[in-house]
Amino acid sequence: MIRLNAIPLDYEPRNKIISELSKHGRGLENFILMSEFDSAFLCGALKTFRPKKILEIGVAAGGSTAIILQVLEEIGAPYEMHSIDLSDILLIEGYTNYSSGFLGTFAKEKIFGNLHGTHKLHLGKILPQVIDEIGGGIDFVILDTVHSLPGEVLDFPAVLPYLADNAVIVLHDVSLHQLRQDKCNATGVLFGAVTAEKFLNFQPEKYLFRYPNIAAFRVNEQTAANIENVFLALMLSWDYWPTDEQVKIYREHYRRFYSDALVEIFQDAVDMNAYNFAKARNND
Ligand SMILES: C[S@@+](CC[C@H](N)C(=O)[O-])C[C@H]1O[C@@H](n2cnc3c(N)ncnc32)[C@H](O)[C@@H]1O
Repeated sequence: MIRLNAIPLDYEPRNKIISELSKHGRGLENFILMSEFDSAFLCGALKTFRPKKILEIGVAAGGSTAIILQVLEEIGAPYEMHSIDLSDILLIEGYTNYSSGFLGTFAKEKIFGNLHGTHKLHLGKILPQVIDEIGGGIDFVILDTVHSLPGEVLDFPAVLPYLADNAVIVLHDVSLHQLRQDKCNATGVLFGAVTAEKFLNFQPEKYLFRYPNIAAFRVNEQTAANIENVFLALMLSWDYWPTDEQVKIYREHYRRFYSDALVEIFQDAVDMNAYNFAKARNND
């Protein structure tokens, strides 16, 4: 089921946090990376579904963290939010002396003060390494990491057993491959492969394409029943090789929740891609 233009776009929280950050006069507002439209969709989804346990995967400076916190504070209900980033330091050229998530921390301390909920940063780790600590009952996830395969396709089956019924997953950069005309995009692939209720809003005319760069889906009883389609998407050619250690961690994590058949499919995807990466290296 696809729901077009069903999320009421909310442009205000991004404007508000930008205005607050700019008062500090350090150019902090420039670390808000998400476009106006993408932020409006994210904020609209938060206001529509009013989640209680939020997981952000892919933090960078913390621009999206600050926007999400702004919305949660506007809603004013208790919440628990966790943000994971593989990197301890900000991987933006010229800013590697900043920690990942520094902007979210700044916003918490200097803008929001006492929060209605809690927010915890988990840095230097991938999802399977921290998800047991975070625990189940997650009802809202934003996935915004590498955007190239395998990327976010690895993380969705890893987080699925920890989701509440009807949890909502927002995917950023679902059409990045068209915008940049390059890699096969992991969030776009995941959005296509997953079985769920899917939400997308068309962009206004000022944007290059009508099809958006952000979308969401809501899990239902069919999502876990058809998860093999997400594993099968990993058969596509990977754009980068995660470390061998990361591959092992995902495999061990999948083994805890999925059938031998699905773990075998994952391993075949790993083997085929490993073979082709080695072949490409030998041809260099
Ligand atoms: C596009 S940025 C996130 C932008 C952020 N959501 C925002 O809008 O401000 C991607 C981030 O994902 C992180 N990342 C890459 N691979 C990851 C993984 N497997 N798990 C968690 N974080 C990852 C990178 O270190 C980087 O900081």
